Amino acid sequence: MKIFLDTANLEDIEDGLRRGFPRGITTNPSILSKERKTDFSAHIQKIIDLLIKYDYDIPLSVEVFSADPKEMIAQAEQFVHSFGHYSNLNVKIPIGWNELQVIRELRNRGVNVNCAACMSFNQAAMDALAGANFVSLFYGRIRDGGDNPEQIVRQVHAVFKEWNIPSEIIVGSVRQPGDVAEAFQAGADIVTIQPKFFKQMVSHPKTDEVVNQFITDFKNWLS
Ligand code: E4P
Repeated sequence: MKIFLDTANLEDIEDGLRRGFPRGITTNPSILSKERKTDFSAHIQKIIDLLIKYDYDIPLSVEVFSADPKEMIAQAEQFVHSFGHYSNLNVKIPIGWNELQVIRELRNRGVNVNCAACMSFNQAAMDALAGANFVSLFYGRIRDGGDNPEQIVRQVHAVFKEWNIPSEIIVGSVRQPGDVAEAFQAGADIVTIQPKFFKQMVSHPKTDEVVNQFITDFKNWLS
């Protein structure tokens, strides 16, 4: 069970790294576009600098921002040139017929690939067989499309396990804290989560109640 940070926000990343739980970071072009406009490479390097500062060697996914396979390869090469010194760099390639060729090419060059935007078992199966290190199923968007994301994750997990497929299953597009347990129970290896959910995930009114009671009882005992 691994939780990744689904953000490019430097403050949120640092908050998470300080707390020890992140096992990876995923970004995508829309996530980056939410940040203050800046140099793309410089921003990714700042993320890597934080990983090094806090002594993490965890997967960092950076997504291509083209639909053209040749441009995808070129962008991936640029990522490796710019960020390849970070050993756990993963290039995110969305699933598609032409993209499978990009995935294979990058894997043949030893570049780690996170195949993104998967909405079905077949998409996950195809990119895993193409060699993707990670298969990213978009939970919320699968549900938006009228399918059952839990069932799809369960199918992918069962078949990957049966056939010893090494690709790790990432569940992204988390829309509520309840998706996290559901996805892990269905067999996700990794759930990548937006920082806005983390405080909710560790909070509970009964926790606050009992902790306050403990402190009050102890102070009364001391007085
Ligand atoms: C993670 O890798 C995905 O890019 C991300 O979770 C997608 O989230 P969204 O469906 O809310 O855009």
